[in-house]
Amino acid sequence: MAAESISTSSTYGGASDPCAIVLFGASGDLAKRKVIPALFDLAVHNSLGSRYALIGFARTPMNDDSFRSATGEAAKSMSDIGPVDPEKWNDFATNLFYSPGDYSDQQAYAELAKRLAELDAQKNLGGNRLFYLSTPPEVYRDIVEQLGRAGLSRPATSKSWVRIIIEKPFGRDLASARELNEIVHNVFEEQQVYRIDHYLGKDTVQNLLVFRFGNGIFEPLWNRNYVDHVQITAAETLGVERRGGFYETAGALRDMIQSHVLQLTSLVAVEPPASFDATAVRNEKLKVLQSIRPFDLEMVAQAVVRGQYSAGNVGGKPATGYREEQNVNPKSRTETFVAAKLLIDNWRWANVPFYLRTGKRLAKRTTEIVIQYKGAPHIVFRGREAEANRLILNIQPDEGISVSFGAKRPGTEMSIGNVTMNFSYREGFGDSSRSAYATLVNDCLRGDATLFDRGDSVEAAWSLVDPILDVWSAAKTAAVPQYASGSWGPKQSDALLERDGRKWHTP
Ligand code: BG6
Repeated sequence: MAAESISTSSTYGGASDPCAIVLFGASGDLAKRKVIPALFDLAVHNSLGSRYALIGFARTPMNDDSFRSATGEAAKSMSDIGPVDPEKWNDFATNLFYSPGDYSDQQAYAELAKRLAELDAQKNLGGNRLFYLSTPPEVYRDIVEQLGRAGLSRPATSKSWVRIIIEKPFGRDLASARELNEIVHNVFEEQQVYRIDHYLGKDTVQNLLVFRFGNGIFEPLWNRNYVDHVQITAAETLGVERRGGFYETAGALRDMIQSHVLQLTSLVAVEPPASFDATAVRNEKLKVLQSIRPFDLEMVAQAVVRGQYSAGNVGGKPATGYREEQNVNPKSRTETFVAAKLLIDNWRWANVPFYLRTGKRLAKRTTEIVIQYKGAPHIVFRGREAEANRLILNIQPDEGISVSFGAKRPGTEMSIGNVTMNFSYREGFGDSSRSAYATLVNDCLRGDATLFDRGDSVEAAWSLVDPILDVWSAAKTAAVPQYASGSWGPKQSDALLERDGRKWHTP
């Protein structure tokens, strides 16, 4: 299916306000792989305008020149934004600066403040500042408090702005998320705070809202009267790679379900907002999280499955088990897979199960949402029934939407076959999508928080996940089911749906 009469050029918007962007954790992996490439992409498309400065701040000793060449090296392998034009990179690099320091060292922030003032005056940046926390979460507190102490968290004039982007994970349970919110709110106003979840920057995730609320034909069928159940799968083929140390303290429930998968759930289930603005959209999303039935001990036992990958084969290549990964305890009980059944107790979704699953080292890399419809109420075709109708939203890697339905097979017999109607993003709009990070940073630079998480909804997501974490940590001797790398998870995950007479869709 091709898109008709629709511009295929990607939209970056006009130039944002002049500003200084301070990137904490600038020598780290995330900064090099995602954040700096996203900023480069915005600069190339004139989204950053001509007056900006990017100041890297990290513990690694470097000066402006060595920071420029280190990020330049990393830029050559930026898969997100395609090949890098060296001339454009050199232009961009003249706006890069580096301020080394320990995150808890007050003196380093005094230096940073001095550097910011100089650059502001030199480049006429109007006092606008964006602080980007791309560090391990353990140092968030130090950074936020030091920014406050150095007087950097408040706008210098009534016309300037100061914003802060905070990476996930935002806390590791409800108590720590609350504490972090408090620390942040002691220094910044909530409207200055942008909690990033990169899934919300993916075009197809935002398309969920357009699909539902920009069209008249789908929304009337988007409720308990027509929908049998919903499946959300976020499957990865990669293992924990070099992040074993971090992953040991996280696990799939904290790493994926609390954030990305619950975000997808709230967008599928959300009521139409009054308008597409930050307050209206985020109010409605919060209501979804608050309507999800809380897990108690019995529900965790019956409706939540965890698993850990063992050795196997992924895409024809042998893969080691999680417990053999670098920096992973050989007796680790950390889950790399979670499947769960949620119920949303509201008028739209009462008794419609939402089945969620996520895992590493699964059979295929795919993120998809499957809306499975109820069958026809009465079958007139002499016992010949069509398969269930499914609407599938493919978030990645092949972005698109497909609808499956029954059609009469050609011939004299009355026989019904299952057929699919497909829309592919690439065919419809060309390959013009931006990286999720570019979209989100661009929004933040424009003061649009619609696609960022709010303090109250981060806490609501943790309060759903907390009881599961509690049950698991109390069950110290219970075995964590193993699944072979390259499979679709432990058999208990299939059983979760089979018990309800249903099956996972195989992507
Ligand atoms: C991150 C998780 O937030 O999302 C990673 O910490 C995970 O463990 C990643 O691999 C998945 O993102 P994407 O965009 O590749 O689906």
